[in-house]
Amino acid sequence: MTPMNTAKLSITFTLNTKPTKLEIPSGITVLELLRDIVGLKGAKEGCGIGECGACTIQVDGKAVNSCLMLAAQLDGREVCTVEGLSPSEGLHPIQAAFLKKHAVQCGFCTPGLLMSTKALLDENPNPDSEAITKAVSGNLCRCTGYQQIMSAIEEVAKPCSGGDS
Ligand code: FES
Ligand code: FES
Repeated sequence: MTPMNTAKLSITFTLNTKPTKLEIPSGITVLELLRDIVGLKGAKEGCGIGECGACTIQVDGKAVNSCLMLAAQLDGREVCTVEGLSPSEGLHPIQAAFLKKHAVQCGFCTPGLLMSTKALLDENPNPDSEAITKAVSGNLCRCTGYQQIMSAIEEVAKPCSGGDS
C-alpha cells in the first residue's frame, strides 16, 4: 500500500529484542512498516480494518492489530512479531502445540493466532477455556473450525503437572 503522507519521521524502538532506529513516512501503519520497510512478512494483511486478527503482534506485551496502529506510535516501545517467537533452534512451545494438534491448515491466520496466544500466556500462563476464547476472539480462521486451535492453546496452557507432554 502506498503511504499518502510522505513526511518523514524518526522512530526508535525494540524489534524482536533488537534496538531499531528507522526513518519512516509519518502516515504508515505498523503493518506497513513491518512488511514493506523491515521485510518481516509474518504479520498478514487480511482485512486491514481491525476485524480479522491476521496482523496481530505484541506491543509492550499486549496483542495489537498492527493494521490499526500508526508506526509513529512505536517510538520508545517494545515490539514482538511472530518472527521473534521461535528460539534459535526448534519451535516455541505454542508453535509446537499448534503442529501437534493440527491447528494449521492454510496458515494465513496462524501468525496472528500465535501472537494472541503468546500475549495471553505472558499475562496468564494457565488460562481457562473462557479466557482462551476471549483472547483469540479477534482472530478469524476460515479453515479449521477453531476446535484444533482451542486444543492447541489448551495443550500449551495446561499446568505442567497435568496431562501428557
Ligand atoms: S489485517 Fe489487521 S485485523 Fe485484519
Ligand atoms: S488455517 Fe486457514 S485461515 Fe486459519
